[in-house]
Parts: sequence; C-alpha cells; structure tokens
Amino acid sequence: MIEKNRFNKNIGQIAREISWEEFSAIEEKDKVVFLNNSKTNNPFHVLFSQQFNRKSLDLLCKVADKARLIHKDRDKGRKFLKSLLFGTYALNFFSQPSSRTFLSFETAQEILGMGTKDIRDPSTSSEAKGESMEDTIRTFSSYVDLVVMRHPEGKAVEKGIWVLNNSDRRIPIINGGSGPDQHPTQALLDIYTIYKSFDKKVDNKIIVMVGDLLRGRTVRSLSYFMKNYKGIKLIFVAPSHLRMKKDIKDFLKRHKISYQEESNFKKAIPLADVIYMTRIQDEWDKGKGKQKGHKPVSDKFRFKAEYLNLMKKKSIIMHPLPKRDEIDVELDYCGDPRVIYWRQERNGMWARVALIAAIFQKEKDILKYRI
Ligand code: NCD
Repeated sequence: MIEKNRFNKNIGQIAREISWEEFSAIEEKDKVVFLNNSKTNNPFHVLFSQQFNRKSLDLLCKVADKARLIHKDRDKGRKFLKSLLFGTYALNFFSQPSSRTFLSFETAQEILGMGTKDIRDPSTSSEAKGESMEDTIRTFSSYVDLVVMRHPEGKAVEKGIWVLNNSDRRIPIINGGSGPDQHPTQALLDIYTIYKSFDKKVDNKIIVMVGDLLRGRTVRSLSYFMKNYKGIKLIFVAPSHLRMKKDIKDFLKRHKISYQEESNFKKAIPLADVIYMTRIQDEWDKGKGKQKGHKPVSDKFRFKAEYLNLMKKKSIIMHPLPKRDEIDVELDYCGDPRVIYWRQERNGMWARVALIAAIFQKEKDILKYRI
C-alpha cells in the first residue's frame, strides 16, 4: 500500500515513482485515479468495470447512439467521424482467441479514422525471444496512440498500464479481456444493449445470469457495473462447481445490490427482464484440454426454444458469444424481437466507438454534431 502522504503528490508524479508491486497492491477504488482522466473522470486506461461511474456510462450510451446516427450519413457523417482521430494509430494485441472483440475494436477504430495494426500470435512478437512484457508494451507505445490488449494472464493489462504510466509515452491501454477476471468493454456493450432495449432505462431490472459464472469474465464485469444502477436484482443460475465467486458476491453485498442463487432455471425465466446466457468455458480446465470436441451443456443450463413462452413480453435474451449449445439454434433466426444477441454483437462496435472517442476527449464533438 502506498503511504498516505504520497497521495498529496500529483498523481502523474506518483505514477512515475511507484513500483509494480506497490501499484498492483493498491485497492481497486484507489487505483481509479491512475486510470481515469482527472478532469472528466471518464476512463483513460480501461482496466476494470469498477472505474466507470453512472455519469460516464450514461454518456457513453448517448455517444454510441449519436455516432451510430451520424454514421448513417455515408458521406458527410462518416467523413466527420473519420476526421476525429485521423492520423492516429491503434494496435490490437490479442494473444487469446477473439472474433467479435477484435473485429469490433478494429472497425470502431477505423470508423474514427485511426490506422489499425494487430498482433494476434504472440510467437510473432519479441516476447517469443524472451523480451519482458514491460519492454514489449513500451515498444508498442513507440509506434501507436492506443493499445487494446487481450491476454490469458489476469494481470497483463494492468502491468501494461503501469509501464506506460511510468514512461514518457503515456498512451491509453484498453483491456479487451484479461484472464478469467474482467472484460469491461463487453460489460459496456451489454449495458448499452439493455439501455437500448428498455428505452434508455437500465434501473430496476431483474437480470438472470446463466452458465459458467465462475470463469466467465463477462458476467463478472457486468455484475460490477450494477453499483451504478438502482433497484437491480441479479439471479445466478450455474452448475454447483461453476457458481459466481465470493469476491463478486461480497461486492454486491457491500453495494447493497440484491442477488440470489437459483438452481431451477425455468423458475427464474418468468421473472427476468434480461436473461444473460453464457457458455461453459472449458478451455480453463487444465489438463483436460486434450479432449476432442466439447461436452454438451446440461439441460438445466440450456435455453430451450419452448422457454420463449415463459419469458415476459418485454424482456430480452442476451449472450456475449461465442455460443455453443446453451441456446437452442431455433432461436437464432426465429424473428422474436426478444432474441437480441446478434444486435448486442453490433452494439459492441458502437459502444467501443463511444469509449475510444471519450478516451481521446472527442465525445463532445460527436454529441454536438448536427445531423
Ligand atoms: C467472451 C470472452 O472472451 O470473455 N467473448 C467475448 O469477448 N464476446 C465470452 C466467451 O469467451 O465465452
């Protein structure tokens, strides 16, 4: 823990003096000052969901909506968006599999006029020659203005942030999914999807989270966001060995967010405003990885087509994707407006446009733009 008097110093100064051990040991709520823009309190680096507040979430949803509208004008609108970050570059460093997150970040960057580069195979970066993570990240920052990073190690993104806070090229880093811990930009697009589906109202929702709640980083990040909303109730439905971890439950208790664990999925469906399905993340099962194919999910954690009849009229079914058999395929193109996961996927791109714009303090330009 850093001593109290050091907090009196300018944060930039502390950031340059502090060791990795000290930095990583700072409690999350105290770490926010090293991540957010000190003037706007919007994220600069994006590490975890706890650094977002209600104001920044509302703002990002608004900016995402507006950017989407502007983009409909193929000529002037798109040129305007492209002018915002023209001449800057982003690197997408994804050393874990990704389709949606990678593509939506890359497209979002291009919508804003950024040049994009990527490293997706760590064996092609100098890390493979034994270069430290610190040197690798510092090197990236020599060439680009933004790094988005997905890494199997939970602490990798944080280390990158620490390195750049210490350096003379303090460019922003965004966590595109780190270990089984957090995936804040997925939570952001999930909130944006709820916001859009319920006429801009996220408060007072019952959200049922189903599947691998232990290793699914999306449900963890989304749960943290709930501190920003009123009257939320979470219902967790998971196999007994994959239940939501204690750290999240403690967080929910501390923030007086109501939650319960439910073993009977069918019982929870009629209560839900949002059903958030997830897949069983068996890639984390060490040693068992050699098995060919994936085990089918138990019927108890599968959304069957007939369950649509149990859902409220105005409710939605979400999934961060990729999905397997936890949702009946009949749902995919059945035309029921409550099946929202393909739209949710596209919302990801707009949420990331909004986030990157806000990181570079261009959100006001988007909101002010006259269509
Ligand atoms: C998720 C992830 O990578 O955490 N996917 C995503 O980013 N949309 C969920 C998953 O892999 O199941």
